[in-house]
Amino acid sequence: MRFLILLGMTVCTMYAACAQQPVDELHPYNYTIDKDIKVLHGAVVSAHPLASRVGAIILQQGGNAVDAAIATQLALAVVYPGAGNIGGGGFLVAHLKNGRNIAIDYRETAPAKAGRDMYLDALGNPITQLSLDGHLAAGIPGTVAGLFAAMKYAKLPFTKLIDPAIRLADKGFAITEAEANGLNTYKAEFEKLNTAKTVFIKEQPWKAGDTLIQKELAHTLTLIRNKGAAGFYQGETAANIVAEMQRGHGIITLEDLKNYKACERIAVAFNYKGYTILTMPLPSSGGICLQQMMGMVENYPLAQWGFHSPQAIQLMVEVERRAYADRAQFLGDPDFVKVPVAKLTDKKYLTTRMLDYVPMKAGSSDKTKAGTLPESEETTHLSIIDADGNAVSVTTTLNGHYGSRTVVGKSGFLLNNEMDDFSVKPGVPNMYGLVGTEANAITPGKRMLSSMTPTIVLQQQQPLYSLGTPGGSTIITSVFQTLMNTLEFGLSPADAINQSKFHHQWLPDEIAVEKDFPDSTVQSLQSMGYKVVKRGPVGRTEIIKRAPALRFLDASGDKRGDDSAAGY
Ligand code: GLY
Repeated sequence: MRFLILLGMTVCTMYAACAQQPVDELHPYNYTIDKDIKVLHGAVVSAHPLASRVGAIILQQGGNAVDAAIATQLALAVVYPGAGNIGGGGFLVAHLKNGRNIAIDYRETAPAKAGRDMYLDALGNPITQLSLDGHLAAGIPGTVAGLFAAMKYAKLPFTKLIDPAIRLADKGFAITEAEANGLNTYKAEFEKLNTAKTVFIKEQPWKAGDTLIQKELAHTLTLIRNKGAAGFYQGETAANIVAEMQRGHGIITLEDLKNYKACERIAVAFNYKGYTILTMPLPSSGGICLQQMMGMVENYPLAQWGFHSPQAIQLMVEVERRAYADRAQFLGDPDFVKVPVAKLTDKKYLTTRMLDYVPMKAGSSDKTKAGTLPESEETTHLSIIDADGNAVSVTTTLNGHYGSRTVVGKSGFLLNNEMDDFSVKPGVPNMYGLVGTEANAITPGKRMLSSMTPTIVLQQQQPLYSLGTPGGSTIITSVFQTLMNTLEFGLSPADAINQSKFHHQWLPDEIAVEKDFPDSTVQSLQSMGYKVVKRGPVGRTEIIKRAPALRFLDASGDKRGDDSAAGY
């Protein structure tokens, strides 16, 4: 399905397989949203059509999937300010054609002046706004360091990868209706939380097709182009960040910025019925929870029960309950706390976790807590597969929509509000309703626990799927459902991501379903004893399937946003 954005007008035309526009040119004022494409060589799916197209052009110009991932992220930082970023952080998982698996961690860290009680008042009660709004909510951004860590696996020079983003920031582009709505919705917050003038505020309401020009951001990107990571973590940009902090009572210092390091970790890799699932390790909870959930459902006949059958949904809800209970109790930054990963993902342990599962009867989060071990909404995703069979899956975040809503004066980029992903106090829910304990308490230099789950599925050591999604606490359950929808229920990539989704995260003890979830299924779940609540969208998944026999790529962007696929 194709949507044409032309000076603010949205026209819908039917998509013809393998016949989308050539990708060799970028048209910032006249572009299409392509939901589903089939291409022969390389494909990129991201949250914005211009960013996907930038990535596809890089692939066509001889770049590999890592080059395209770097260029797409930089373009997203310009055309999708709500979540694309250089002021946030993320995770990149890749499988290279030489068989190597990669996991790059560029999660934000707590500043040196941060402390475990920094968001509590004198009586020890949480002051929620402080970890969500403005300067004090920001962790040290990791994205730029992450992009340079990924350059080790790229083919093209960095200048070629960043130039499209600089052009889009400098010359501008036409915004989509969703972006116009976002900027209008957050206008009052931009006014309240900024100390300098920002291009995101204008007198008249934004509308689809309006031009967004970001000269200050273009300047910052040019500094990064010319000086590398030092163009962000040192010199003019670092000074602007610190000046912004001083104007807004934030705590990030020059030393914090200079000391930030992205790092490579060992990707989580596990077997599910002959497929290899590759995903992100700690400080993301995503990989461990996914391994737990898939390990717990593996012994049940899900495919036989059928897609969206009450039996299948109930089982999936019960494994989600158990994984999120463990998440709250045990998971945190592995550089600061000892996490019993092997025990949490051990098959015997997972079998034990399911001993109190009663088919067709609601479990209870009062009774099902974290396991006893032996001794012991806004983020964005992009998926890429290139012609050589390199696969990349990146999830990156500012945390909330437009992060802290604070733009760094003179540098033109938004800061994250990722500090809210720490547990500000044991048992106190964060903005996604997630609770945590000591393992995820605030400590200087520590990475806050994440749910981001960039994932690649291998079949016979070749990439079969690259997928992932934003969505806060729903990220893990969205990825889990998409994997079940494809691997168990045989849905096409487009159906697997677009069908309505459900979510359970232990606390609150309820199943949240999307508004279009079938009423009859809701009633079945209620008759088993579940509390079911309706909620907004669950995830915005990007997926690419590499059809093994036919060798074409089937790429789909989620129906829930401006998500768009591009390829050649
Ligand atoms: N900020 C959302 C996450 O990292 O899980």
